[in-house]
Amino acid sequence: MLPLPLEDNAGDVIAKAMRGANLGDTALGRLAGVDPEAVQAARKNQGDEATLRAIAAPLRLGAEALVALARGAWYPAPVRFPDGFAMLTTAFDDMTVNAYLVWDPATRRAFAFDTGASAAPLLATIRERALQLEAVLLTHTHRDHIADLVSILRAHPVPVWTSERETIAGARTFAEGQVFELGALRLRALSTWGHSRGGASYVVEGLAHPLVIVGDSLFASSMGGGMESYEDAWSNNLEKILRLPPATVLACGHGPLTTVGEELAHNPFFSS
Ligand SMILES: [Fe+2]
Repeated sequence: MLPLPLEDNAGDVIAKAMRGANLGDTALGRLAGVDPEAVQAARKNQGDEATLRAIAAPLRLGAEALVALARGAWYPAPVRFPDGFAMLTTAFDDMTVNAYLVWDPATRRAFAFDTGASAAPLLATIRERALQLEAVLLTHTHRDHIADLVSILRAHPVPVWTSERETIAGARTFAEGQVFELGALRLRALSTWGHSRGGASYVVEGLAHPLVIVGDSLFASSMGGGMESYEDAWSNNLEKILRLPPATVLACGHGPLTTVGEELAHNPFFSS
């Protein structure tokens, strides 16, 4: 399989940061000392390097990481789990979305995280690996992440859990800090809202690598758009996810797996 493309290019990152800072082409151009036309080109991923370097600081972005992203010079190193973890990527319109399975290798008890556009690969993995699905844990309720909940529940009538800040019919709710036990694994819910009102991440302890399922809170070299609150999305990512040990694997709602260490070094939003 070809490597999964990064979710966002440099233009997407700039556009998200501009929306977050409430800056248009003219206002940002004035702050950075460049023409509005140059800002517009950068926002469309056609920025020259001098413009990228000039606009990075007023947007609170790391200039080196932004330039590297624009050049296509970075991609996260591959991560492998010998057992207990599967990433299921499905096509949703013109993008892809990730769902995940986490299981205790000894007891085969499993949790699903989101559904994918189609749950077919997730359900096939449950069968092939002889897993016992115990619950679906949602990172958030945007359409692409819960699109095929019905297929999972038809095959496995299990509880669905979501943040108390963002509920859907029939789901159980949790507050930040909720602990879920799964055989020898221990999971803890973090509130990483900002992209969505009840965005949640799940810290998983007990597999070959420390792991966090982050949904659309964070992407390799980008983050989810701050649709509810850019400031909270940004500070939750920095304070709750990126302070975990550098080897912690981040399983994102779109794009490839990455790690805390990789993102602190290469994510324009967090490397400044
Ligand atoms: Fe989302």
